[in-house]
Amino acid sequence: MNATPANAASAAGGGTDLSVPRHVAIIMDGNGRWAKARRLPRFAGHKQGIEAVRRTVRAAGDLGLEALTLYAFSSENWRRPASEIADLMGLLRHYIRAELDELARKGVRIRIIGDYRKFEPDLVTLLDNAVERTAGNDKLTLAIALNYGAQDELLRATRRLMREARAGEIDPDMLDDAAFEARLDTVGLPRLDLLIRTSGEQRLSNFLLWQAAYAELVFTETLWPDFDHAQLADAIAAFGRRERRYGGL
Ligand code: FPP
Repeated sequence: MNATPANAASAAGGGTDLSVPRHVAIIMDGNGRWAKARRLPRFAGHKQGIEAVRRTVRAAGDLGLEALTLYAFSSENWRRPASEIADLMGLLRHYIRAELDELARKGVRIRIIGDYRKFEPDLVTLLDNAVERTAGNDKLTLAIALNYGAQDELLRATRRLMREARAGEIDPDMLDDAAFEARLDTVGLPRLDLLIRTSGEQRLSNFLLWQAAYAELVFTETLWPDFDHAQLADAIAAFGRRERRYGGL
């Protein structure tokens, strides 16, 4: 009897340091409250949020993570005012343009998860180029979730599988978790070990619902613009203290 799922079994093997997570995901929350506390416009909070992204990506590399996934724009964020959406898109453009050389030089591989092709064509091209240019890197994978919603990801994967079944390309009885994961946006990323949410909220908000099945959850009161190396190291230390049993004893 196999008491561990395939991804958990791979976590237990290989002689790697189990106290360091391979893949960390972050729900970056609290930019608006950070700005409000300083009587600044929300844009100022998002701008500082970009600084926190820079620091955190560097810290992830320094701390030896294999993958970092950041929730930058959810499929629900379209409900925000058009001006704020434009600000977020502008900051994303600026981040990619300003950071791409350094990320590429440092061995960061950029991935996008989510239905990002709904964005402005120039931004889609910029993102596609960043992904293509860094595809050969293998130090840290930075996955940016854009127009991402886990329910949407699961529906897209299911639709694809149903089309494949209808075409006779897959036998529904042969579908297992590996075959399902191969149709998710996160295909090829290491199993998610640790999910962090900042700003005191304790919800998953439609983020990585399949992937978080066995992830440890860390909620911190820190507002995203204040997040830094020490905060990430603290969350990783908390992860290292937890006992992971994957449903076993
Ligand atoms: C949550 O704060 C943050 C966001 C919705 C956007 C996060 C995006 C960035 C930091 C910029 C783009 C990212 C990358 C990877 C370049 P909030 O506005 O919901 O804060 P509030 O809950 O305090 O109002």
